[in-house]
Amino acid sequence: MLHLFHPFIPKKKILKELSDTLDSKWIGQGPKVDLFEKNFGKKMGYKYPVMVNSGTSALELAYHLLGLNEDDIVVVPVLDAIAGQVGLIRRKCKILFCDIERNTLNIDPDFLERLLKENSVKAVIGVHLGGIHFNQKIYSVCKKYNVPLIVDAAQYLAPTYGDYICYSFQAIKHITTGDGGMLVLGNKKEYDRAKKLRWFGVAREQKEHDARQWNTRAINSDLGEAGYKFQPTDIDACFGLAALPDLEIIIEHRKQLAREYLRGLKKIQIIAKDTYWLLTVLVEKRDKLAQFLINKGVEVNIVHVRNDLFKIFGGKRQKLPNMNWVETRYLCLPLNGKITKSDVRSICKLIRQFYG
Ligand SMILES: Cc1ncc(COP(=O)(O)O)c(C=O)c1O
Repeated sequence: MLHLFHPFIPKKKILKELSDTLDSKWIGQGPKVDLFEKNFGKKMGYKYPVMVNSGTSALELAYHLLGLNEDDIVVVPVLDAIAGQVGLIRRKCKILFCDIERNTLNIDPDFLERLLKENSVKAVIGVHLGGIHFNQKIYSVCKKYNVPLIVDAAQYLAPTYGDYICYSFQAIKHITTGDGGMLVLGNKKEYDRAKKLRWFGVAREQKEHDARQWNTRAINSDLGEAGYKFQPTDIDACFGLAALPDLEIIIEHRKQLAREYLRGLKKIQIIAKDTYWLLTVLVEKRDKLAQFLINKGVEVNIVHVRNDLFKIFGGKRQKLPNMNWVETRYLCLPLNGKITKSDVRSICKLIRQFYG
């Protein structure tokens, strides 16, 4: 079977990092987390990255920092992972689904502008779905209506910008820490606050371990705000430290596969660019093609289902013309480190055969 996803595991390098960590006997959040944050920040050009235990936790922290609460209206793309959106439901926010563009499957800026014009929106969640940066107009629309933009870059491991940026290192992302995430803040104040919030609300660095200070310890590490248990471990960071230097190679391989798909499927619309996390095609007779490919040993999937169909989001197909058009046509084909150009040529051949 040619699989859709495959985790990137540089085993030797991970084992070396892990060996250091296990010998140090410090396996919880410690120096490796600090180092991974530093290396990640350097590579991406960020001053204030905070590592957490998942991309979902990064989003949750962004919601907390923004103060999203009951009845706040939040705009999200209708086609998205559920991860970012369930947290909004838990906060009892009101979700407005935005239609997508047919060429990127990301938020449509004109539709977004209509939503912002007609509603008092507290935040927009812009997703780089499939590893593709959303339309640059999203920034000017959010700016025009003075609405903060949370960028969900879980599927986009490259520099981007927005008021809050959330990355994921979950198992099948470009690089993985098993599970993990990074929240990137825009200023020192929010950075310090996020670092406290990821560990109950305590400033770990300020905790005193000197016995003479015990009587004042409550003050040294006082709780100003109720936080979460979102901190990652040094074991997670070992995976990140081992894989991060290979990021360019990982993306280049995916880019080359995408080029091969473009060469082999000239008549089919292919959606893949920037960091190439997914390779999505828009095709007629999608379900029949999918079954044909699965029968031939090629794993394919739509990966994301439009979220308005889920009961907690209303359970009704909304009037979103582009989503409605795309719904029966999109399909993701294998794109990962284990797939070779020759595999792609075979997949393309099968697809051409299917369409005669
Ligand atoms: C678009 C998107 N947002 C958020 C998440 C949540 O990330 P995580 O699984 O690391 O919590 C994911 C991944 O699963 C995702 O694909």
